[in-house]
Order: sequence, then C-alpha cells, then structure tokens
Amino acid sequence: MKRYGLVGYPLGHSFSKSFFEEKFEKLGLESYRYDLFEVEYLKDFPSIWENYPDLQGVNITIPHKIHIKRFLDQLDASAIKVEAVNVVKKKGNKLVGYNSDYHGFKKSLTGWLENRNISALIFGSGGSSLAVQSALLDLDIDFEVVSRTTEKADMLYTKLIKDPSIMEEHKLLINATPLGMYPNVDDGPPIPYEQITSDHFLYDLVYNPEVTFFMKEGEKKGAKTKNGIEMLELQAEKSWEIWNS
Ligand SMILES: NC(=O)c1ccc[n+]([C@@H]2O[C@H](COP(=O)([O-])OP(=O)(O)OC[C@H]3O[C@@H](n4cnc5c(N)ncnc54)[C@H](OP(=O)(O)O)[C@@H]3O)[C@@H](O)[C@H]2O)c1
Repeated sequence: MKRYGLVGYPLGHSFSKSFFEEKFEKLGLESYRYDLFEVEYLKDFPSIWENYPDLQGVNITIPHKIHIKRFLDQLDASAIKVEAVNVVKKKGNKLVGYNSDYHGFKKSLTGWLENRNISALIFGSGGSSLAVQSALLDLDIDFEVVSRTTEKADMLYTKLIKDPSIMEEHKLLINATPLGMYPNVDDGPPIPYEQITSDHFLYDLVYNPEVTFFMKEGEKKGAKTKNGIEMLELQAEKSWEIWNS
C-alpha cells in the first residue's frame, strides 16, 4: 500500500482527493490511496506519520502552508524561495517540504495574461499569496499586497477604498484569500468593486464555485476573469512529479 493525503483544516469536499483517486485508477495503481487528514493544530502533524508508516507524501493546505516548515527536516529550493510549503515528501526517514503552488500559478498566469506590462494587487498575505508574490517577482510584474493588517502587507483594504488611484494604477487583481469559497459563495475580498473597469484582469485562486463572487463583480464591468482550477490541476500534477522523482 502506498498512501498519500491532504493536511489542512477544515477539509470539506477535496479536489485533491478526487484528482488523485482518478489518477490512481487511470494508472492502474490499485494499492495507492489518498486520504484526508484534518489537522487543526500542527503539533498533531508528526503523529500522522507515526500512525501511517505507508504514507509517502502529503499536500498541505489552508491554514498550514507557512508554519508547517518547523515540522519538516529539510526544505527544497522551491519552498525556500516561496517561504511556504504545500507538498511534503518522505525521503528515507526525513520529511522534505516543496512548493508547487508557485509553478501552478506562474504557468496558468502566463498562459492567460498576454500583457506583462501591468501591475498587480494581491489580496491576502497567507501561504498562497507568498507563491503568487514569488511568481510575479520572477515575471517582473510589480505588485502590492493588500491585507487586513499591516504586518505582512503594503496596505490595508481601507486605503484602497479611500484612494481610487490605486485600483486605477493596478490592472491585475488577484484574490489569494479564501473569501468566496463554497459554501460562502457571496463573499469576496473587501475591495471597491465599483472601481473595476473593462481594462482589469481578475484572477481568483478560489476554484469552487467555478464563477466566484469576485469574478462576477469583474464580469459585470467587462473585466477578464479566471478562476483557480487550472492552477489547482497544475500544482497537483507537480506534486505527483515531486513524489515520483
Ligand atoms: N487554485 C489553487 O491551486 C490554490 C492554491 C492555493 C490556495 N488556493 C486557495 O487560496 C485561498 C487561500 O489559501 P492559503 O493557503 O493562502 O490560506 P492562508 O495561508 O490561510 O491565507 C489566507 C489569507 O487570506 C486572508 N484572509 C483569511 N480570512 C480572511 C477574511 N475573513 N477576510 C479577509 N482576508 C482574509 C488572510 O490574509 P491577511 O491576514 O493578509 O488579510 C490570510 O493570510 C484558499 O481558498 C485556497 O483554497 C487555491
């Protein structure tokens, strides 16, 4: 038996579980399985590996991508670069952290956004925001991070609301918060939606529902929108590549 899984909290319906179960079936890997590990506090992370000696690797999701690092023996260059981990692989008796969100976001963005002469606002400063920031840095796209606190960000949402020139100057808007994720489908980042124009590009990392509140508000103004499904598939394929390398 080879076991993989997803670690996060809370875990509702999981894209990753269906994705990997389909993959195992397609590849005829009958003794492989993908489990959900609901872990609220990371102090409980090591016990998963003790309880399941056949566990080969896990994906890490909300809210643990930043703090998981302390529980790992080693970080791959991708995780060092992004400063967040969303893939863990057991290598011998060591746990190694990787980042595949960076790859998924960068590849899906470059396939969608033709004009790179644009600057971005990233909403949220968590684990996936770090992957987005790293990708934009590498693509030479200027960005500012908008948050509820000034701790890890360039500005608060209140500044955005007070100063309309900010939305005017930043035409790429990226939702890297969980706001809008099923079942809270009427939520979105607290931004001045009335300032969106047909020149804006709205990328939502949220993938369920397919058209989020954030995207709907963009579509109303004629903006181009994209959800997180392609990124999710690309990061999952990359995880598989990492576990098999
Ligand atoms: N499509 C994909 O492949 C993909 C990949 C990764 C993540 N995601 C999605 O992206 C979302 C974020 O994931 P994550 O791992 O980055 O989570 P995370 O580490 O918990 O960070 C989420 C960030 O969102 C902001 N936030 C949380 N609750 C908020 C609220 N009530 N109001 C305003 N802001 C709030 C916070 O930023 P501030 O404290 O700065 O406000 C927080 O740091 C999730 O929905 C996840 O499913 C999608």
